[in-house]
Parts: sequence; C-alpha cells; structure tokens
Amino acid sequence: MAAEFEPVRASEMKSAMAPELYLSPDVFALETKHIFHAEWFCAGRLEQVPGSGDCLLVEVAGESVIVLRGRDGAVRAFYNVCRHRGSQLIRAQPLPDAADPGALNSTRVGAAIVCPYHAWSYNTDGTLRAAPFVQFDAACPKENFSLVPVALESWGGFIFVNLSERPKPLAEQLAKAVHTLGRYPFADMRRGAQLVYDVRANWKVLLENYNECYHCGPVHPELCALVPAFRDKGGAGLGWEHGIPHRSGAWTFTSTGTSARAPFPGLTETEKTHHKGEIVYPNLLLSAAAEHIAAFTLWPTGPDVTRIACEFLFHESELGKPGFDASDVVDFWDLVNRQDWEVCELAQLGLGSAGYTPGRFTQAEGTVHDFDRMVAEAYLK
Ligand SMILES: [Fe+2]
Repeated sequence: MAAEFEPVRASEMKSAMAPELYLSPDVFALETKHIFHAEWFCAGRLEQVPGSGDCLLVEVAGESVIVLRGRDGAVRAFYNVCRHRGSQLIRAQPLPDAADPGALNSTRVGAAIVCPYHAWSYNTDGTLRAAPFVQFDAACPKENFSLVPVALESWGGFIFVNLSERPKPLAEQLAKAVHTLGRYPFADMRRGAQLVYDVRANWKVLLENYNECYHCGPVHPELCALVPAFRDKGGAGLGWEHGIPHRSGAWTFTSTGTSARAPFPGLTETEKTHHKGEIVYPNLLLSAAAEHIAAFTLWPTGPDVTRIACEFLFHESELGKPGFDASDVVDFWDLVNRQDWEVCELAQLGLGSAGYTPGRFTQAEGTVHDFDRMVAEAYLK
C-alpha cells in the first residue's frame, strides 16, 4: 500500500555514473569493442528475410553487416565489405518516411551481391561468384575471396549476430528472458507494424529509462491509468517476473486497455491480465502484453544518438484475419515512446552541463544501478 511505503534515506542511495560515460567518444569506442562487438546483437526478425536473396542491412555500432537468406534457405551474415578493395557492397538507405514494416533496413540482392565498384559478385552463401578479367588459380583460389562471415543465430524468430572471434553461447544472453517469457509463442509471431525513431540520447540513458518506473507517474499518465501499479510506491517493488496487473477491466496496452485480438495461446491466467518486460542485453527490449509484443531494438551510432526500431509482434493467426488493424497498439505505444524519448533527450542534454554531478538512485532504480555496474564491468575487460 502506498501509505505504508517508507521513503528511502538519501544517504543510503547509490550514486549514478559519471556524466563523461554518456558523452565521450572514447567510452563509446570501449563499449563498441567490449559490448556491441562482443555480445549477441539483435538484428531483426526472420520474417524480414522470407525468401532467397532477401537481405537486411544491419549497423552494429559502426560495423555494417549483411544478413541474407541464401538459395538453400539458410540465413547467414557477412561483413558488408568487398574482398577486392574493401568497398561497401550495399549502402544503407535513409529512413523511410512511411511506417512501412520492414522498410527500415530490408533490401533484396536477388541471385548475387554485385559490388558497385569493380563488379566483383558474390553468391547468396557468400562465396565469390565472379571477378571480371581475373583468372583464379591454385596459388590464389577463388575460395580465398568469400565474404567474411559473421556468427548468426536465431531464437523465437529474432535474428542475432555476433562480431566476436569466439562468441559465447546465445543461450547465456537469453536465459533470463526465456525464463520470464517462456510461454509467449515468439516463433509464431509476425511483425504487424514498425515505428522507427532517432533519439538524441546515449544508449545507456535509454536502457536506464527502460529499467525503472520511478518516472512512470510524472511521464506516463495514460500508461499509469492503465496500470496503476506503475505509479504506486514511485515505481518501486514491481514484480516484473510475474507481471504487473492492469486496472480492473483492462488487460493490454491500448487506450481502452482491451483488444478484439485473442490472447496468445499458452499463457497462464495471470499472464492474460498482467504486463511483463524483459531485456536481452545489450540491444533488445521486450514488452509483453497478452496479445502483442512490443520489441525494441537499439542501434547506437555514437555517444549521443541511438536509432530505435519498435516492432509490434502479433500471433500469426491474428495477422491473417481480414481487417487486421494494429493501430490501437501502435498509437498507444507511440504516445508512450515519445514521452520516454523526450525525457531521455532532456537527460542527455543535462548530462553535458557543468552544473551536473552524479545524483543518487532511489529504491525504484536498483535495476538501473545493476545495469550501470554491468556496463562498468565491461569497461574493465
Ligand atoms: Fe517510460
């Protein structure tokens, strides 16, 4: 009960991280090496590459990676670099104007990737197909010029790539999410809509925001009307593992709290009325309602800018129904998302001020402190 809740003593509050860690290109380079290029990085969904020659262009903190379905049906990843003189093979396109699912970074290469510079071409399995006016021989065989592979695995329809030499098992990174969200049928979900945002904030600011609900009362009035527990106790003591209850009569994240769509098959009675959230560090955030998942991927491109793709996943049986319309979910999330990005951008601006020294975390922000410690440990590797 809110009335019984004891405020935390300020002297017992843990300190936030130094502002330089959110501003410095050198720190971002460290994070790129020890986090984004060392861990499994969510690159999208398998349904974005449905057929042979379908391709996703993935920017993993400064490294461009091609995710491509081959003629044999397998999905592979390669560095987006020609083995001849290093030209990028596929150039990233600017953000689409329309909210076209899949338009963000989807493309097609067809039967071969052809380098735009000297027209060296590659098969969909990454092997060199042809190099104009070059005769390969035993001393320098064609096989030496295959595209450089990047490790790729999938879980529940999500594609993950890993740029390290010896990737750790993906299961280690997924363990907590698999435990909490084990009954949600991710493999049977499909994207019904996508929103893309460019946010002027450090990726850690965004993850810190996702890690606490102390801000929910002041920032998200509509969300708190749906889930009053988000503002009770200042967002402290939320049991994310078992889910957070909606107000009576509400059971999902839409303006009415209801939906014509059926809950996912296989959920418990509690999961049908509670909201769950999980993070697969470093860049996949999952927000689970009973009939849709909002899956956020973060694409950091510098210390103070992060692209966020928000995919809305629905059960494939719902997507196939005539008149399927995701706008109730998309409109509600777009409102909540923009409220978050606004305060994250304000935080980023303030972190750069001479007037800021690290503040203290409340008891509702313990998971923010845990996240900061995890990142700090990565700096020490
Ligand atoms: Fe928020």
